[in-house]
Amino acid sequence: MLVLGLETSCDETAAALVEDGRRVLSDVVSTQVDIHRRWGGVVPELASRNHIVQVMPVLHEALTRAGKTLDDVDLISVTSGPGLIGALLVGVQVAKSLSLATGKPFVGANHLEGHLLAIRLLEDAPEPPFLGLVVSGGHTSFYEVQDYGRYRLVGSTRDDAAGEAYDKTARILGLPYPGGLPIDQLAQKGNPQAIHFPRALPQADTLDVSFSGLKTSVLNHVRKQGVPQGQALADLCASFQEAVADALSKKFIAAARRLGLQRLVVCGGVAANSRLRSLCLERAQERGLQLYLPPVRLCTDNGAMIAVAGYEAWRRGLRGDVRLAADPAWRM
Ligand code: KG4
Ligand code: ZN
Repeated sequence: MLVLGLETSCDETAAALVEDGRRVLSDVVSTQVDIHRRWGGVVPELASRNHIVQVMPVLHEALTRAGKTLDDVDLISVTSGPGLIGALLVGVQVAKSLSLATGKPFVGANHLEGHLLAIRLLEDAPEPPFLGLVVSGGHTSFYEVQDYGRYRLVGSTRDDAAGEAYDKTARILGLPYPGGLPIDQLAQKGNPQAIHFPRALPQADTLDVSFSGLKTSVLNHVRKQGVPQGQALADLCASFQEAVADALSKKFIAAARRLGLQRLVVCGGVAANSRLRSLCLERAQERGLQLYLPPVRLCTDNGAMIAVAGYEAWRRGLRGDVRLAADPAWRM
């Protein structure tokens, strides 16, 4: 079954063609970061307008690279939530229009399920049950994946998402938006022990995490000492990154042990982070747990993950119809 995946929930316009939910034929992503960078974050109205400009060229490019036409597509899968409402509506309207014009079926896919199921694109993909950590700009949540379509939220952030903490910290430090990659790159040249930033909620009785205190600590540090430069900036980034990776990986392992799960998956934009990847790997290995990490290009938003989520939803019997609404707060 050839699935077209369309993603417009935030600031990436993406389209991909995926065969049977496993084999990527093409995966095209057009990012808007240059447009939003000067505002220090995503401006919803600008995001919607740019999706409208980009969505058809991106779709066309995905079909061309795969050597396919719309005639070859068996199912159209589109992110219908969660995300920015105006941005979601662009993809949803395109999917409905394509469906009406071609007679092909479509489904609305959940963006978070897309992040989780991107791991299906690995050759040795884990089968449920497994523990998933979805860590992105908008979410930081632990899910018990009991089966495809059966997800139990077991813990999440009580305030900022980890990616949000990265982006806000980058702003404090005068680094470009989005802040994840620049901080990660500087951190690799710094000393993670230079500054001890707090780890929120270290107690064993909760599987929640919190990042707003960490962000405030960085702010207080900068207020007292000014924005560091050179090596001191790299040290601060490394210390911040260590605090995020330490808190997340500890809770992740604690959750796996509490739920008796052997397989773990980290996904979402922050799963691209070098220290989070290495620390999760180290701690999982210490306890004989098996960690699965998507390649970096499948961590940030893309159309392939939406094709996989749509394919799995279709197999469960989900069908879209022309009344399908975008749901900006869709809980998985
Ligand atoms: O999944 P994603 O592309 O979009 C959302 O669904 O939010 O995630 C974007 C987030 C941003 O906050 C960005 O700063 C963060 O992922 N990010 C990273 C890295 N690459 C992207 N955070 C830490 N380290 C990275 N290498
Ligand atoms: Zn995302």
